[in-house]
Amino acid sequence: MAETKYNFGMIGLGTMGRNLLLNMADHGVPVAGYDINPDQVAGFEKEGEGKPVKGFTDLAAMTQSLSTPRAIMMLVPAGKPVDNVIEKLLPLLEPGDIIIDGGNSHFTDTVIRDKYLDEKGLHFFGMGISGGEEGARKGPSMMPGGDKQAYLTLKPIFDAIAAKVNGEPCVTYIGPGASGHFVKMVHNGIEYGLMQLIAETYEMLRKGLQLDNQELHQLFKGWNEGRLQSFLIEVTRDIFNFKEDGADQYLLDLIKDQAKSKGTGKWTSQVAMDLEVPIPTIDMAVAMRDLSKYKVLRVKAAGVYGGEPAALNVDKEEFLKSVEEALYFSTVMTYAQGLDLLYRSSIAYGYNLNLAEIAKIWRGGCIIRAELLNDIFDAYTKAPSLEHLLLDDSIREQVARSLGSMRAVVTSAITAGLAIPAYAASLTFFDAFRSENMPSNLIQAQRDYFGAHTYELIGKEGVFHTHWMPLPSKP
Ligand code: 6PG
Repeated sequence: MAETKYNFGMIGLGTMGRNLLLNMADHGVPVAGYDINPDQVAGFEKEGEGKPVKGFTDLAAMTQSLSTPRAIMMLVPAGKPVDNVIEKLLPLLEPGDIIIDGGNSHFTDTVIRDKYLDEKGLHFFGMGISGGEEGARKGPSMMPGGDKQAYLTLKPIFDAIAAKVNGEPCVTYIGPGASGHFVKMVHNGIEYGLMQLIAETYEMLRKGLQLDNQELHQLFKGWNEGRLQSFLIEVTRDIFNFKEDGADQYLLDLIKDQAKSKGTGKWTSQVAMDLEVPIPTIDMAVAMRDLSKYKVLRVKAAGVYGGEPAALNVDKEEFLKSVEEALYFSTVMTYAQGLDLLYRSSIAYGYNLNLAEIAKIWRGGCIIRAELLNDIFDAYTKAPSLEHLLLDDSIREQVARSLGSMRAVVTSAITAGLAIPAYAASLTFFDAFRSENMPSNLIQAQRDYFGAHTYELIGKEGVFHTHWMPLPSKP
């Protein structure tokens, strides 16, 4: 009797790898998983009981169990581990086999691996996968980029396991090269921005208005039923209500105020700087995670300067309504900055990104899924070459309507000494973005004054330099 052949192989049976395979098996795809750790393999086989799954601790045996051309996904930590796995795989594969990197690899690494594997006659593509544990199991959002032919071979599997919105799968071919990993990186940058905004909302409401966790839970519950509806608001709503079995205190109140990260937010800011694209809300989110780790120094500084802000001097009910508007406004700014980075990277790297399609596949399964993405999808569907999200009519109307509340919230919070840098950055970014005249003429003058860097003149072609030093006064 012929041995069973499996149609898809996974390297790395951590949360994501295991759940993706189980998701595939639920859709009738026979799958094989490899992990160096026998406990992971045993756990996978146990969870997959009754389904077409098989676990291996021997990589060669796993690759031999696959039907050809083989399709193998790596879900291992970004960086060196990915290259190590590739080196181990190479002697076990044949030309025409497909390797997929489903992790959060830096897009520049994906470019190098793409070339390297192509030279060996292998197909390779990088695919950003979002949705965490539950998404992987029940339906993630996926961003494949690179070898299109290889992706199309596997498209039926990815369509089957993806999250669905209005019956449509949250996966689409993103573009050439490393575009899939690039788009996932920007997804994560937006994720950082939104998480920071929600954290600052918590800061304003617990310190400025003395709301307790139950009140915050109720407030977020209400927000999640309106235009702020999103996965991150939903998650936060639940966090405010969570106590471990038998515990008196909310778990949130026991967690250290030091945020960790794996790097994708920082990469987004770094790349944006390289491409000269302003994304200050996201930058601020990265900086605040870093500042949060300065615990000892912050405690010292609190002792020196006095740490606690004053209570907000506002009407509570009115302020709560305004915060909803302000959070909406800042959320729009965060997506707008991320999408601008996609728009400009698409030109710089020739990705030819379809922003409507990207908004579409972000509407389900991923961490930044949100009601607002329907409006963003509409905006880019109406105008596929829209230069900036803030120029869309319907977004413009919503932003204009929330602006007064946004300004009031930021002003009150800053006056009370509450730290809300991502909110403030969102507002001042907007004010600068819609400035016909920025004060940058002065910067040009300064540059020319001290460094002869030249300047351009309004209404006159060419570059100019002036000797700015005041002439010595005559005796
Ligand atoms: C996702 C998440 C996922 C992961 C982040 C966490 O889309 O499913 O973005 O990729 O949760 O990498 O990132 P940090 O550890 O940097 O917060």
